[in-house]
Amino acid sequence: MLEDISRILFTEEQIKARVEELGKQISADFKGEDIVVIGLLKGCFMFIADLMRAIDTNVAVDFMVVSSYGSGVVSSGEIKVRKDYSIDIEGKNVLVIDDILDTGRTLAFVKDYLIVKSPKTIKLCTLLDKPERKTSKVEVDYVGFSVPDEFVVGYGLDYDEKYRNLPFIGVLKPEVYK
Ligand code: IMP
Ligand code: MG
Repeated sequence: MLEDISRILFTEEQIKARVEELGKQISADFKGEDIVVIGLLKGCFMFIADLMRAIDTNVAVDFMVVSSYGSGVVSSGEIKVRKDYSIDIEGKNVLVIDDILDTGRTLAFVKDYLIVKSPKTIKLCTLLDKPERKTSKVEVDYVGFSVPDEFVVGYGLDYDEKYRNLPFIGVLKPEVYK
């Protein structure tokens, strides 16, 4: 598995430190109010587990599955809800969590999808952002790290369901998917 990684972008320690900062920032912004965290599976599972433990207010957690890349490395463009969340979000503070913001289509879609359910507030959080690739206008409230336009894996992020268990975030060698 390790031989497929060309370089490490963020170590386990760097991720831990940044996630703790994000948790503090979120705790301060919500000032003790309850939050419903909605994670977009599967990529967010490790991030959400760590981030929740760094937030010191009441947090409910739910998940959605929206269409992914399948086994490719380029977004198909069309987004579908494959598993919906189930907690009532009307009048609640909603924080949507994704693993990586690439074109921005996923989070833009999910925000539009949830906003019509009348949450009190809706904020977006992503562990990683690829700023060079933005095609959809989406304002993200919390970003862990910016990454270059390369395919990254680890800490929950996969290529073809592999590499999610790497404790760090690294660049996948292009020959693995070409
Ligand atoms: P967007 O809708 O183009 O912003 O795509 C976001 C989704 O694409 C993420 O939630 C990931 O599932 C996937 N994705 C985009 N870039 C990468 C990457 O470099 N590594 C792993 N998954 C990625
Ligand atoms: Mg994803």
